[in-house]
Amino acid sequence: MQPRQEITFDIEDQPQIFADATPKIRSIRFGDWEMDTWYVAPYPEEYSWYPTLYICEYCLKYMKSKYIADRHKMKCPMKHPPGDEIYRDGQISIFEVDGRKNTIYCQNLCLLAKMFLDHKTLYYDVEPFLFYVMTEINDMGCHFVGYFSKEKRSPLNYNVSCILTLPIHQRKGYGNLLIEFSYLLTKRENKTGSPEKPLSDLGLLSYRYYWRNVLFEVLNNSPDALSIEELSRVTSMTVNDIIATLQINNMLVRDEENGTYRIVVDKDLIKNHLDKVTSKGYPRIKSENLRWTPFILTRVLRRVQDLENERSLDMHEQQNPIDHINKSLDENMDADD
Ligand code: ACO
Ligand code: ZN
Repeated sequence: MQPRQEITFDIEDQPQIFADATPKIRSIRFGDWEMDTWYVAPYPEEYSWYPTLYICEYCLKYMKSKYIADRHKMKCPMKHPPGDEIYRDGQISIFEVDGRKNTIYCQNLCLLAKMFLDHKTLYYDVEPFLFYVMTEINDMGCHFVGYFSKEKRSPLNYNVSCILTLPIHQRKGYGNLLIEFSYLLTKRENKTGSPEKPLSDLGLLSYRYYWRNVLFEVLNNSPDALSIEELSRVTSMTVNDIIATLQINNMLVRDEENGTYRIVVDKDLIKNHLDKVTSKGYPRIKSENLRWTPFILTRVLRRVQDLENERSLDMHEQQNPIDHINKSLDENMDADD
């Protein structure tokens, strides 16, 4: 992992193809950076024969050579991810990208992520997913930092399918920020959620870090004793994840007399821990900066708007918009099922 060296363009300078017969992309050029890849991603075979893959940091198009990448850079119209910007705080921006509307972008994103993920298998079937892309803004544009994907309808209430911070941005708190954001969306949906399993080793470390901190914060700020259900309601974490986190931190104690469990809180220990976390200065999500409504509702309201535009609403529906929304919601759910 190193800043990109300036290389003068030479049309004769064709990319060097592997001498051995193993197709494997060993590094990617991405914006001003070069990164070693960790795992193999299923790029079309003709791309896998080059040791370095060039990826446009804005549209995520992948290319075989610096020559092609430089030409692309001159004409690429994008300076930020497609979709809607739903969150902004200073330099940090988050975009919601629909796999159905921006299929190529999302497929390219999954291929990029696969180079740093060993077990996820989603690359081409992106339509059932929304992608939340975090960027850092400067004068040049919105630079990709990381993302997570989320099923539009998850029967198991997964609130994250895949999560990634690009290696050049790791260990600066962005993974934690993405996780915090995923729980904010779940909170707005009035649900609880958990990441899709299995988690990678790094995923597990990051989630344990987040879960512990968020539970410690709530317990630290609460003057009263809290039940696991109350913790779940406040944090949008599942009861299972709360129990697991409390157990790992030795905070669940069994009462031998009546066989029930108690949450044991050492306020000093929690406060010390939270002070250490705060001193890292990692970015935090500001819930008031989110401009977003959950997917189903947005979709239905847009449909209502379309119908109104076409002037096809009858008088009754125009006088009872809520009825109409409910009716559209029913139709929509029927259509989806
Ligand atoms: N080693 C030890 N602890 C770690 C590591 C690590 N490599 N990475 C994160 N942690 C823990 C630490 O406690 C860290 O706090 P600290 O740096 O102050 O010690 C804490 O998690 C928060 O780390 P962040 O900086 O917020 O996380 P980061 O931005 O590095 O992203 C992520 C974490 C997304 C898991 C990243 O490592 C990544 O993209 N890995 C490759 C892809 C992957 O494995 N994704 C998860 C798959 S599971 C799923 O998708 C549901
Ligand atoms: Zn581009």
